[in-house]
Amino acid sequence: MNDSARIRMVAVGPDDELEKQAWLNALENVIDNNGYCLGAAVEEFESRCKEELGVRHALGVSNGTDGLKLALKAVGVEAGDEVILPAYSFFSTASVIAHLGATPVFVDLDPKTLLIDPEQIPTFITEKTKAIMPVQLYGQTADMSSIMKISTDSGIPVVEDAAQAFGVRYKDQPAGAIGSAGAFSFYPTKNLAAAGDAGMVVTQDDEVAERMRQLRVHGDLGGYRHHSLGWNARMDGFQGAILSIRLERLAGQQQARQRNAQEYIESLTQLQLLDRIQLLERTPGSDHCWHQFIILVEDRDKVRQQLSEKGIDSGIYYPGTLPAQPCFAELGYKAENFPIAQEAAEKVLALPIHHRLKEGDPRRVVETLAEILQPTH
Ligand SMILES: Cc1ncc(COP(=O)(O)O)c(C=O)c1O
Repeated sequence: MNDSARIRMVAVGPDDELEKQAWLNALENVIDNNGYCLGAAVEEFESRCKEELGVRHALGVSNGTDGLKLALKAVGVEAGDEVILPAYSFFSTASVIAHLGATPVFVDLDPKTLLIDPEQIPTFITEKTKAIMPVQLYGQTADMSSIMKISTDSGIPVVEDAAQAFGVRYKDQPAGAIGSAGAFSFYPTKNLAAAGDAGMVVTQDDEVAERMRQLRVHGDLGGYRHHSLGWNARMDGFQGAILSIRLERLAGQQQARQRNAQEYIESLTQLQLLDRIQLLERTPGSDHCWHQFIILVEDRDKVRQQLSEKGIDSGIYYPGTLPAQPCFAELGYKAENFPIAQEAAEKVLALPIHHRLKEGDPRRVVETLAEILQPTH
């Protein structure tokens, strides 16, 4: 198999020479304006995001992880508190809680979506619970109506990890700003991708916004008077400039992802693979930005290896659950308490879905899967 025929998992960097030139011009503009940390390019990107998403506040930050930290602290999470989150996500959903001196309290998943199971949340609420943090994993939201009802009844704020769900709407509300605050990641493999690390926090709440704005710059909005113990979490000007260019292209790229998802679903159905792999269901009320296209399959690692030998890359997001991470060993969580997350860690396989796939690529992936998974008589 020659290298150019290989179906890759991700597509990073500018799409073509034209976009590369647009990036270089934008960078030159930042240099000419000395707008390196925050500055005009970041402000322009923030205002485009506010309009695009329909949020009152959008603040550019250094990365999604820092964004989550800002959002949690802004809603009042402090050392000794507890934060409820799903047992399965990218590591930093949990690490930010621990970095604040709070305790991550893990909840198992809805097996149909692999998103936090709202029915289990009330069991884990104590007087120390200061936030509920659903993760809008793979590009669709969790069951936000149920989660917001728990929040309203208990008075506990919701902070969304919307790192993978920029632009997604749930019942006409923007992911990230359904609860009190939320964060996006613009890591280079995300749907809206920077040329390095970058992220954003969003909220509809003026007070939470003001706190996050302050926390982003060491708790100081001028004069070297530090009103809160913040961080250096600024987005840099180069990233803001490039993200504005990328935002203009996002709608077209999203159409490609939607088309790819549809081609996958149709091909999996036509080739009758749905008895050998499991597809995730859609959350009612949420749309999907298809950050990942996920299947669950037995012997996942073997299937992945065989796909690779046949020229198809794939990914595992994620190979372990959060409670089982060695750094959380002292919390004493037992893997058997999170059977759905555990099963996900063993079976999840992400297939390529990025916007640069060619029409017919998803079909080729599924045909190859069919060869690998054909029943042995
Ligand atoms: C679900 C989730 N949470 C948090 C993050 C952290 O974002 P970043 O890598 O920008 O710090 C990511 C990004 O990988 C993510 O996918």
